[in-house]
Amino acid sequence: MIEATGLRKTYRARGRKAKPVEAVRGVDFAVRTGEIFGFLGPNGAGKSTTLRMLATLIRPDGGQATIGGADLVRAPARVRDVIGFVAQTGGTYDEATGRRELVLQARMYGLPKTKAVALAEKAIAAFDLTEFVDRRIHTCSGGQRRRLDVALGVIHGPTVMFLDEPTAGLDPPSRARMWREVRRLREEGMTIFLTTHYLDEADALCDRISIIDKGLIVAEGTPSALKREISGDVVVVDLAAPDTAGVVGEAALRAAAEVLTVQPYVHSQETVDTTLRLYVDSAATAIPLVIRALIAAGIEPGAIESRRPSLDDVFLAKTGRTLDE
Ligand SMILES: Nc1ncnc2c1ncn2[C@@H]1O[C@H](COP(=O)(O)OP(=O)(O)O)[C@@H](O)[C@H]1O
Ligand SMILES: [Mg+2]
Repeated sequence: MIEATGLRKTYRARGRKAKPVEAVRGVDFAVRTGEIFGFLGPNGAGKSTTLRMLATLIRPDGGQATIGGADLVRAPARVRDVIGFVAQTGGTYDEATGRRELVLQARMYGLPKTKAVALAEKAIAAFDLTEFVDRRIHTCSGGQRRRLDVALGVIHGPTVMFLDEPTAGLDPPSRARMWREVRRLREEGMTIFLTTHYLDEADALCDRISIIDKGLIVAEGTPSALKREISGDVVVVDLAAPDTAGVVGEAALRAAAEVLTVQPYVHSQETVDTTLRLYVDSAATAIPLVIRALIAAGIEPGAIESRRPSLDDVFLAKTGRTLDE
């Protein structure tokens, strides 16, 4: 449904001293019909820029992409016919009511008033907007506004939906609600392309993801396949003793890292905040050895836990940084 090869965008600077920003430096991806595809990456990675190119809002500097077979640059009108787009910041007018925005949106697609009103009714029922749709938008909660944003984006019945950070800043119940709406749209046959900087969202909601960092894709696949690439277990050694409330001497952390890096059962390790992340074959056999090695070196581990590799471990392995850095 969506195919992109070598898509690039550089923002040219306006000011004399400003440097051009290579926001997207050649990305390839293919999104299948009916899947929820996610772009996962930190702030500034190039997610919104990619989405805005696909939605024909900005023109790529290089590369190619088609949506439903229509070329972004050569047939933008055909692309616009089949897509819906929800911007990261939304696009509603605060003083209007949700209902008014829905009707207006439908009319902008050229529908007569009666048809537009009927479509607005349908969207209000589908997204459960009744409670707040007749209030002015600035009085609605973040979760309510975001649901309205998505309802506006699909009012014309697109087959491909672009959602830029649909749950950024929402509380957990509102996020869960939005995930349900996204899955419902997929069940209705839509193909969904969303961006997120939340690992758990990419993991739980997306069928496949691409991880993007500094304008380049660093990994691609299903969340479970990506995690399987990091074989074995992760042992997390937290050096912050409970009574020091997270304050750890740099020296203690460095000393522990030096002790553990030479242990044969530690394949690789990374320091994250006050913790060491150790990649091992088996946590069950590694943990007693880790404790013994640290105590022998006079280092008191605050807490040790083991877990399966997460998408954050994938990101760390590919970029050397964690996603929240
Ligand atoms: N209109 C613009 N002009 C100049 N630079 C921009 C513009 N929009 C975004 N950028 C820069 O491009 C990079 C990618 O931004 P963006 O695509 O918004 O990332 P993301 O959505 O992943 O946070 C960032 O460095 C950002 O500062
Ligand atoms: Mg963005």
